[in-house]
Order: sequence, then C-alpha cells, then structure tokens
Amino acid sequence: MAFDPAVLRDSFAVVERRADHVAKYFYAHLFAHNPGVRALFPDDMAEQRDRLFAALTQLVLRLEKPERLTAYLAALGRDHRKFEALPEHYPAVGASLIAALKHFSGQAWNPEVEKAWSEAYAVISQAMTDAARQAETEQPAWWDARITHRRRASADLVVLTLDPGRPYPFTPGQYLSVCSPRAARVWRPYSIANAPRADGTVDIHVRRVPGGLLSTALVDGVTEGESLRLGAPMGSSLLDRESPRPLLAVAGGTGWSQIGALVEQVAERPRPAVVFLGARSDADLYDLDRVRELVDRHPWLEVVLAAPEDGASRDEAALLLRNGLIERGSWAGYDIHLSGPPGMVGELVRLLRTRGADEKLIHHDPLPDLGDQSRPLTPAEWFLARPEVHWINAAQLGGDERA
Ligand SMILES: Cc1cc2nc3c(=O)[nH]c(=O)nc-3n(C[C@H](O)[C@H](O)[C@H](O)COP(=O)(O)OP(=O)(O)OC[C@H]3O[C@@H](n4cnc5c(N)ncnc54)[C@H](O)[C@@H]3O)c2cc1C
Ligand code: HEM
Repeated sequence: MAFDPAVLRDSFAVVERRADHVAKYFYAHLFAHNPGVRALFPDDMAEQRDRLFAALTQLVLRLEKPERLTAYLAALGRDHRKFEALPEHYPAVGASLIAALKHFSGQAWNPEVEKAWSEAYAVISQAMTDAARQAETEQPAWWDARITHRRRASADLVVLTLDPGRPYPFTPGQYLSVCSPRAARVWRPYSIANAPRADGTVDIHVRRVPGGLLSTALVDGVTEGESLRLGAPMGSSLLDRESPRPLLAVAGGTGWSQIGALVEQVAERPRPAVVFLGARSDADLYDLDRVRELVDRHPWLEVVLAAPEDGASRDEAALLLRNGLIERGSWAGYDIHLSGPPGMVGELVRLLRTRGADEKLIHHDPLPDLGDQSRPLTPAEWFLARPEVHWINAAQLGGDERA
C-alpha cells in the first residue's frame, strides 16, 4: 500500500466533528465545477446529502485491509451504473473530496496528507470503475419494470407486482432498489416478496412512511402500467437450501415480504418451518389471505400471529412476540431468519441467543447500532452510526471482525 493509513485516520479526525459542513462543501464544489453532475442526484438533497460523502470517507479509512473491501467495492461500482455515474465522473468526485477536506483541515493539511487521500481515492475509484466496466457485458445498469398489478393490502401498504421485462436473476431473501419518476433519482431498497416465478415478475410490499419521498409515491401515487426503475438485487440473508435443520422465521411489519419469499423457497424442498408474524396491531397485519393459503397448502408450515388488539402500545406488540418465542422452549438447532425494523431484529437476536439459538444460524440484513432509534436508518446513517456499515456486508468482509 503506497499510503499510510495512520495519516488518513489522523487527518479525518480533524474534520470529523464538522462532517456535515464538509459534506455540504463537497457537494457545492462538485456541482459548481461539474454542473452536469447535479442532474444525477435527487432534487432534495437534505436527507441524503451525506450518503456519497460518508461512504467515501469511511471507505478510505477502511483501506488498511483493502482485501476485505474488494467484493463490496466491485458491487458498489456495478451498482453505480444505475446512478448513471460514468468513469469520467470519478476524478471530479475525487477532486471535490480533496478540496472539501483541505478547506476544513486548516494547518493539518500538508502535501503528505493530500497524497495519502489522493492515493486512497484512486484505489477505491479504480476498483469501482473496473467492476463497472466488466459488468457492462454481464448485467444491465438497471431494469425498467412495469407495474402489472397494484393491490392495497392495508390503509398504508401496497403490494406491487413488477415485470422487469428481461431476466432479473435473484435469490429469495434479497432486496432490490427502486426509483420512480414521481420521486426522481430517489433510490430506496425494498425486499423481494416472492421466490422466482415462471413469468419473471417480482412483488414488493411498500408501507407509507409519513412524508417519505418514495414510499408515499409508491403507496399513493403509482398506477398499473407505470414504470419503476430497479437496481440489481442485493443482500445475503439467504436460506441454506441444503440444511436439514428446521426453520424459524420471524417477521415484523413488512418484514413479512422477505420471509414470505423464503417460505416459497422452502416449499421447493420442504422441511419443518415455523413463522412468527408480528405486527403493531391487528390492523397492521396484512396479506393474511396469502398466509392462510400457504398454511393450507403446506403441512410443514406453521404460522403464529403475534399482534395485540388495535390501540395497543408498541411495547405490547414486542412483548407478545417475545413471549410467544419464549413459550416455545428452545430454538437450538434451528436455522433462523429475522426480518423487520432493525430495533426488533437486534432485540430478537439477543433473546434467541438466550433460548439456545446458535448465532451462526441466525440470518438477517446487516444492523446498525440503533440506540433508542425506532425507525430504519438511511444508508448514510448506517454508515456513520457505527463501524459496521449498511453497504458493507460483514460476510463479504470475512466475518464480524471490524476494520
Ligand atoms: C434492506 C432494506 C429493506 C427494506 N425493505 C422494505 C420493504 O420491504 N418494505 C418497506 O416498506 N420498506 C422497506 N425498507 C425501507 C425503505 O427502503 C425506505 O426507507 C422507506 O420506504 C422510506 O423511504 P422514503 O423515501 O419514503 O422516506 P424518506 O424520504 O427516506 O424519509 C422521510 C422521513 O421519514 C423517516 N423514515 C424513513 N423510514 C422510516 C420508517 N420506516 N419509519 C419511520 N420513519 C422513517 C426518515 O428518516 C425521514 O425523516 C427497507 C430498507 C432496507 C434498508
Ligand atoms: C470512489 C467513489 C465513490 C464511492 C465510494 C461512492 C459511494 C456511494 C454510496 C455508498 C452511495 C449510497 C448508495 C445507496 O444509497 O445505495 C452512493 C450514492 C450515489 N453516488 Fe456514489 N460513490 C462514488 C463515486 C460516485 C461518482 C463518481 C458518482 C457520479 C457523479 C456518484 C454518484 C452517486 C449518486 C448519484 C448516488 C445516489 C445519491 C443519493 O441517493 O444521495 N458516486 N455513492
């Protein structure tokens, strides 16, 4: 490695507390010097201003063990084609990163520091652009999918069936990113709700977040026949298909989307499965016709509904789920899949460990350190909240060991 990671760490420590200002300066610099690049980003940058910037700085700081970033950077580079990021944009982003860091570093900036950041950025952007170039012949940059069916499953939730129009290979347990012309260039992840189908369609379940840019458009705006843009599938909370073990799956809210896809996959090679479906209240349980149909069709499947009466507190819902899991005794020897709000998933991991579950057999999407946060974090917050990063999957990096 040509640069000294310690130089980068010390340099970042100088600007870290003013990260928000540095990010603002970074984007102002980028857009002022490259006006064409502004059109690639969402109109409203308030929510995601720090996404790219946070990622850049955190990645540079992780370069101490570059081999652990290889797979992640390749995936990120491939995925950046959906943002219409071109190879020639990378030097521009790098120049703005350096300009922003320099501006806020004061006396701490010197030629050695500048060289270290430049070289680190070069390593990252090379890995991303190489992967993007290679992907050109292997995978579309995005899929323009038509909404073939739209079903309101509850007051604030829709199930959308999407036809990607060309092959869209994915594995149950994965999620996809979605963008709609109704919220231009705003990309958000949604779990894929089904196993692969003969007609190639995929379902997503979207719950409206009050004031949410994309979910509001998807729940209240879009109509059948309209197009949504999809990024390539991602995520590694996948079923061990060869496993002889019984399965426990716990879903909270739209977590049922991912769990439903896994249940459909188990049906291809049945084994005993118990699914706990948690919701804040009876009214929040949705898709029950499909749940009943799956239970009727599959003798190996048991579903436990865990939702308090309408009007109950969030705590009651959590308690019901918790007690239900405890009453069943030990979960030793089960493959376990958890999907739902990060707070719920984190708590269930802790509970199930005390009920005999083998941690290596517990699967879920990567979790941030939430503190008392009750909503999912934006990808940038995942990044900034803790060393463990939303986009950086611990498995890809070789286990739990942190950089
Ligand atoms: C891996 C992954 C899979 C996901 N799968 C699904 C899925 O299957 N179905 C689904 O509906 N959503 C899912 N989400 C959440 C989804 O990606 C969006 O975050 C959500 O739809 C809100 O986006 P938005 O653009 O409407 O809100 P934004 O415009 O991003 O947010 C608007 C405001 O609401 C806050 N906020 C964001 N999300 C929530 C929330 N859930 N509760 C309360 N406040 C919030 C934001 O901080 C912000 O202040 C998933 C997220 C991840 C990371
Ligand atoms: C080494 C360089 C780069 C790194 C590490 C990087 C990293 C990231 C990450 C992690 C995200 C968030 C992804 C997500 O939310 O799913 C992101 C978003 C984005 N990036 Fe990059 N990026 C780089 C270069 C570029 C370049 C050169 C462009 C083109 C100008 C670009 C354009 C975008 C856009 C448009 C978004 C979405 C904006 C948003 O939602 O806020 N990136 N980047």
